Amino acid sequence: MKTRITELFGIQHPIIQGGMHFVGFAELAAAVSNAGALGIITGLTQRTPADLANEIRRCRDLTDKPFGVNLTFLPTVASPDYPGYIRAIIEGGVKIVETAGNNPQKWMPALHEAGIKVIHKCTSVRHSLKAEAIGCDAVSVDGFECGGHPGEDDVPNFILLPRAAEELKIPFVASGGMADGRSLVAAMALGADGMNMGTRFMATKEAPIHDNVKQAIVAASELDTRLVMRPLRNTERVLRNAAVDRLLEKERELGASIKFEDIIEQVAGVYPKIMKEGAMDAGAWSCGMVAGLIRDVPSCRELVDRIMAQAESIIRQRLAGSLSG
Ligand SMILES: Cc1cc2nc3c(=O)[nH]c(=O)nc-3n(C[C@H](O)[C@H](O)[C@H](O)COP(=O)(O)O)c2cc1C
Repeated sequence: MKTRITELFGIQHPIIQGGMHFVGFAELAAAVSNAGALGIITGLTQRTPADLANEIRRCRDLTDKPFGVNLTFLPTVASPDYPGYIRAIIEGGVKIVETAGNNPQKWMPALHEAGIKVIHKCTSVRHSLKAEAIGCDAVSVDGFECGGHPGEDDVPNFILLPRAAEELKIPFVASGGMADGRSLVAAMALGADGMNMGTRFMATKEAPIHDNVKQAIVAASELDTRLVMRPLRNTERVLRNAAVDRLLEKERELGASIKFEDIIEQVAGVYPKIMKEGAMDAGAWSCGMVAGLIRDVPSCRELVDRIMAQAESIIRQRLAGSLSG
């Protein structure tokens, strides 16, 4: 399949693995890129820019294919050392950056001067148009179904993607709820140039996370995610567990007066405990509704090959075959 996204990033298949905190290490990014899709290292999971530089080197040892780095611009007061992370990306020779969170405008000149292509993750048409206006090369349009932060507009991909297609000139991928060849064909029918997956890539052999997390995704249905931190306007879609139930109970009790400090136990610093130790009730962790479509733990290559074969068969047989005459 050749699309504007495969051309832009020099990849074989129009599939991207979105940045994921404490999941997007070199092992996963390299496995995805070796499968012909685009793997992405999660920048902020690396504690310092020097750690990120090292992770980039590790990834380069594992693949000679293009891979990217995710930089999430958090709305926090104590800002991470973004200039340092950007230096590590540029000096590491990485040519693709996935930005997310706050507007990346400030960093665009440095990235573009280094010949880096920027894909910004957005949860609305208005933010996608802003990304286009500030010079982003592509956007990842994240629908309400997505694992992680779906924003506050709650527009699912069946509406969001065709709306983005109506307005955007730059290429975009569909993100949120994508799992298989059906997702890819549907995303393209709605106007996208490919798809981005998070949750689906967690349940792969190479994802360097505890097997408990993979099994929790396989066991979950599409009814098992919850939205937390809505009252703080920092909504996150997570898999339901005991900690999430406690968190939601606090949200109900405290109502509009809730502060981040009230739920800190359930959300701060929980990722290493969950992803590394497999302590599944340690806190809230991002997971998409797409868990309902995930039933196995294949290798990244098996997954990507299966997606492309299914997409081709849907287009050639089911869709072309449904045309009369
Ligand atoms: C466990 C997990 C952690 C994530 N961490 C980040 C992150 O640090 N930065 C980011 O931009 N997106 C993050 N995301 C969002 C993904 O990159 C992707 O946009 C999302 O998972 C797509 O929805 P899907 O899970 O339905 O495929 C995370 C998603 C998951 C599931």
